[in-house]
Amino acid sequence: MTTASASGRDDAGRAHLAVNPVFTSEPADIPRNSLPAGDLAPDIAYQVVHDELMLDGNARLNLATFVTTWMEPTAEKLMAECFDKNMIDKDEYPRTAALEQRCTRMLAELWHAPSAERAPGCSTTGSSEACMLAGLALKRRWRHARHEAGLPADRPNLVMGVNVQICWEKFANYFDVEPRLVPMEGDRFHLDPAEAAARCDENTIGVVAVLGSTFDGSYEPVADICAALDRLEAERGWSVPVHVDGASGAMVAPFCDPDLAWDFRLPRVASINTSGHKYGLVYPGVGWVVWREPSALPEDLVFRVNYLGGDMPTFALNFSRPGAQVVAQYYTFLRLGFDGFRRVQQNCRDVATALAGRIEGLGPFRLLTRGDQLPVFAFTVQDDVTAYSVFDVSAQLREAGWLVPAYTFPANRTDLAALRVVVRNGLTHDLADLFFADLGQAVGTLAKQAKPVRGRESASFAHGTGERR
Ligand SMILES: Cc1ncc(COP(=O)(O)O)c(C=O)c1O
Repeated sequence: MTTASASGRDDAGRAHLAVNPVFTSEPADIPRNSLPAGDLAPDIAYQVVHDELMLDGNARLNLATFVTTWMEPTAEKLMAECFDKNMIDKDEYPRTAALEQRCTRMLAELWHAPSAERAPGCSTTGSSEACMLAGLALKRRWRHARHEAGLPADRPNLVMGVNVQICWEKFANYFDVEPRLVPMEGDRFHLDPAEAAARCDENTIGVVAVLGSTFDGSYEPVADICAALDRLEAERGWSVPVHVDGASGAMVAPFCDPDLAWDFRLPRVASINTSGHKYGLVYPGVGWVVWREPSALPEDLVFRVNYLGGDMPTFALNFSRPGAQVVAQYYTFLRLGFDGFRRVQQNCRDVATALAGRIEGLGPFRLLTRGDQLPVFAFTVQDDVTAYSVFDVSAQLREAGWLVPAYTFPANRTDLAALRVVVRNGLTHDLADLFFADLGQAVGTLAKQAKPVRGRESASFAHGTGERR
């Protein structure tokens, strides 16, 4: 969807673009916002597009995104070989379909499903679609149970922390489910087990636990949330399932925190999603969702399509979708294995904790998290810093090429503004040193200001709930 503001600078500038490619003697003129009447030679079209994209940020210096910005050349080669494959054509590309199935089995095993063979799962375009599917399964299970008991099923609700990613607000909005958001309180920046249980009732389709939080990288206490729901079931008889949104953490915790029980080891966990394109180390967009056992995914949500002569079960919001990312995920699993994933994720955690520690030592900042769960940490300026805001720091770092988002927290901590650093594969100790040096310089420059220049209107983060304009 394009809106006036989304098209941005284009509309402010000229409607026609003078194309003066470096190696052509024939200058041309093309419209910017309408389909050109004629064609262009491929190398000229390439140059026009390529040149404009040079103004995008440098992906490796982007400490804002969780999404993969580097893959090795062999993975890129394999992806290029698969650009023409449509994931939905399982009949035409049966081997690609087989790789998808193997990936879901590997994930089911990694997440300790009772039977990896039987656990249903699928690839998606990312965690957002995966969360929609998981939410729909929760809603449908609840509705079946209500109908079987002869009870009304018209007012479903979903309990979660206010820190959930915006995809959960979308799910609630698009699929008519009341979102029950537990606010932050004091230094608690994510879901609290007792508060979650207190908001459940007979109409609760599930509780979402996030591993880890987009705001600060902290893991929510999944086991304690399950225990609180066990007590609730014993007291009130409501059996509330848990979905774990492991967009990032479901590909970190199995390798770095193998003893932490957050997954299907907890009987109440009904489903788990992850983004293959985050710590699954694949370029965007691929996500995954796995259910603990067949009964967790109601059969009436699964379409059996007779397509190109085959009987194909599908549970997805999209129909056509690229196959290359799924192939790349399988490649990454083969290439790294458990040990390789552990090395990569542990290295990210080492870089994150070391960098967080140095930033804490710098003086003007207070850490909210330390990068020892997701390799992600959030920090704010100390109360006695009066010359600049986190928004000034973000803007100053941008001058040196670093993208570090600054944003305010949601209810009940809207008073708190923070910066967040996401350490991904590729942010080496060396790069972290350079970042730290630039941060030191930025602080030195900003300390000369009389007062903060930028406020929360400059917030550069739109992942959380309650931020719709
Ligand atoms: C916890 C969480 N859930 C869901 C999402 C949405 O994931 P995707 O971008 O893969 O759709 C994100 C993205 O940052 C996330 O952090």
